[in-house]
Amino acid sequence: MQATDLLKRQHREVKSLFKKLESADNPRMRRQLMTEIARNLEGHTVIEEEIFYPAVRELESRKAEEMVLEAYEEHHVVKLLLAELPQVNPEDERFEAKMTVLSELVEHHVEEEEKEMFKLAQKLGKDELEELGEQMEERFEAFRRKAAEAA
Ligand SMILES: [Fe+2]
Ligand SMILES: [Fe+2]
Repeated sequence: MQATDLLKRQHREVKSLFKKLESADNPRMRRQLMTEIARNLEGHTVIEEEIFYPAVRELESRKAEEMVLEAYEEHHVVKLLLAELPQVNPEDERFEAKMTVLSELVEHHVEEEEKEMFKLAQKLGKDELEELGEQMEERFEAFRRKAAEAA
C-alpha cells in the first residue's frame, strides 16, 4: 500500500474512534476507547516521524521543510495531551473537554497533512511511496505489539 494511503486509512480509523467515544457513556468503555485512540495516535506519529516525514523532507523544497517542521510541532502538542490521559478520569467533567480539544487538534493536523503534505509527497513517485508504505506498516505493527506487551 502506498504510504499516503496507509496514513489516510489510519486517519479515518482514529476519526471513527473519536466518534465512538463521543457517543459512549459507559466510563469503562470510554477509558477503553481513549486507550485505543492513544495507541493508534502513538503508532501513527512514530511511523510518520521515523519514516514518512524524513522522506518528504528529502524533496528539499522550502514548502516541504516548512510543512514537516510544523507537523512535528503539532505532534508534540498531541503527545503532551496524550501523556496526561492516563491520569484523567472518564467520569471527570474535564474528560470530554480534553478529548474534544485533542480531537480538534488531530483533525486540523490531518487536514493539513492530507491537503498539502500528501499532495507534495506524490513527487516521491509511486515506487518510493509503495516501499515507504511497506516499511511503515511493519513498523506500526511492531510498535503496537510492543505497546500491547507493556500494557
Ligand atoms: Fe501527523
Ligand atoms: Fe497523520
